[in-house]
Amino acid sequence: VESSAFRIAMRSYLTGVTIVTSLHEGEPRGITVSAFASVSADPPNVLVCVNRDARSYLYIASSKIFCVNVLSHDQSALARRFSGGVRDRQFDGIAHSVATTGAPVLDGTVAYFDCEVEAEHHAGSHSIFVGRVLACASNEKPALGYVNGTYATPHPLA
Ligand SMILES: Cc1cc2nc3c(=O)[nH]c(=O)nc-3n(C[C@H](O)[C@H](O)[C@H](O)COP(=O)(O)O)c2cc1C
Repeated sequence: VESSAFRIAMRSYLTGVTIVTSLHEGEPRGITVSAFASVSADPPNVLVCVNRDARSYLYIASSKIFCVNVLSHDQSALARRFSGGVRDRQFDGIAHSVATTGAPVLDGTVAYFDCEVEAEHHAGSHSIFVGRVLACASNEKPALGYVNGTYATPHPLA
């Protein structure tokens, strides 16, 4: 299949939106990622898919840590910021803390999953990072969604 047809078809798939952060040699970095999934509960494993051309790729591949920050409905500005909106000093003015690995945990999110890299699999232009979750937390805020190139908030069906 042509990659253009593939891209168009994938646009229809509703996802959540995350910022995957990492820390390499003291410098934090983050990237907007929708390719995030649960893999296993016992042990707790997740996966993220990251383009090997992205600057974040080298941070995650070399530090072997990442934190998945699941965005809340009111955080679309962060999704834009970390998808090319701000290239340098990405974390200036962005409230965050750390959990276990040292990768940034953003304030105001729905959940975070702080991970160490357990495996990296190359797949086309991207790498699939499998992370062992060392710390996580969540709350009841509505999540941010993304579909057909638009940020949206999913509403529960009545
Ligand atoms: C909603 C949304 C979802 C995205 N999902 C992914 C993804 O799953 N994996 C990926 O590598 N890039 C994804 N991107 C693209 C990256 O966020 C974008 O290319 C980013 O600028 C790369 O940053 P860097 O080169 O500074 O690391 C997504 C972008 C948006 C807006």
